[in-house]
Amino acid sequence: MREGISGSYHGTGNAVAPRGTAERDGGMSGIRKVVFPVAGLGTRMLPATKVLPKEMLPVVDRPIVEYAVQEAAAAGCEVFVFVTGRGKSLIEDHFDRAFELFETLARKGKTRELEALEAALPDPGSIVYTRQQAPLGLGHAVWCARNIVGDEPFGVILVDDLVHARTPCLAQLAAVHAETGGANVVAVEEVPSEHTSRYGILDPAEDDGRRVRVRAFVEKPKPEEAPSRLAVIGRYILSPRIFSILEDLPPGAGGEIQLTDAMTRLLEHEPFYGVRFEGRRFDCGDRVGYLEANLALAMERPDIAARLHAFLRHYV
Ligand code: G1P
Repeated sequence: MREGISGSYHGTGNAVAPRGTAERDGGMSGIRKVVFPVAGLGTRMLPATKVLPKEMLPVVDRPIVEYAVQEAAAAGCEVFVFVTGRGKSLIEDHFDRAFELFETLARKGKTRELEALEAALPDPGSIVYTRQQAPLGLGHAVWCARNIVGDEPFGVILVDDLVHARTPCLAQLAAVHAETGGANVVAVEEVPSEHTSRYGILDPAEDDGRRVRVRAFVEKPKPEEAPSRLAVIGRYILSPRIFSILEDLPPGAGGEIQLTDAMTRLLEHEPFYGVRFEGRRFDCGDRVGYLEANLALAMERPDIAARLHAFLRHYV
């Protein structure tokens, strides 16, 4: 049987998560399923995203969404749940076998290219797609995955947030989930106070420098109303109880069903930790963040770095 991305992930030498001891450690964490909410329109990247799903924009030479799937696979996830929307079918095509291309590469003896494409294919049946039928918010998108996730803790990855780390970010969260006996976990990062209105912000309790016990979350507060500068980054491990909370949740900030509002309610029943993760996060939904991700990852590619470096020195 073919060994695809979730069967045995070896990367192709240019994966976002450099191979390390933690690769595939998440298998022990018990997080089998991961949800990717990808229905968003990508208005911050227009006109590039007028036709092309923002998740299909390339960082160096692979679509952003592939980094996210690789991260989840490296954390031990086996079921990849995409909550998509209209106009996102290229994502499905990307994770499918492109028959004409594969046959042509095989016929021409382009074994290396073919193997790289094969390695990035998820195992048959490991990807599930469902559609969010209306843009009602991130909380609603996650709720759309309820019947596929069922009654087990699961991961959520916001594809726009590309995290470049030695240990994949979701695996770092899974480690804290295991250490804390199954607590809910979210990745956090300190942001400048003038940026709090772009993020979910933590109201922190105890803080040991790595793990922050959470008291509450506030979605996109103004700087003067923010309880801290610790922002939620797009990586979560959540208990399935979140689905019943989302079921009756009224709209919050921006008139949308907010995941952070449901997370605050979840805190009444279960503990929640923020994790200051090791690694660097790039907001690929933003023009500058997207360009930074391209440069940072390209400079780590032996086949690209030298030429790019010479060009940048000349240009800058
Ligand atoms: C979403 C979440 C927010 C989080 C952010 C991280 O916001 O609602 O809590 O901090 O992702 O990227 P969005 O970027 O979809 O507005």
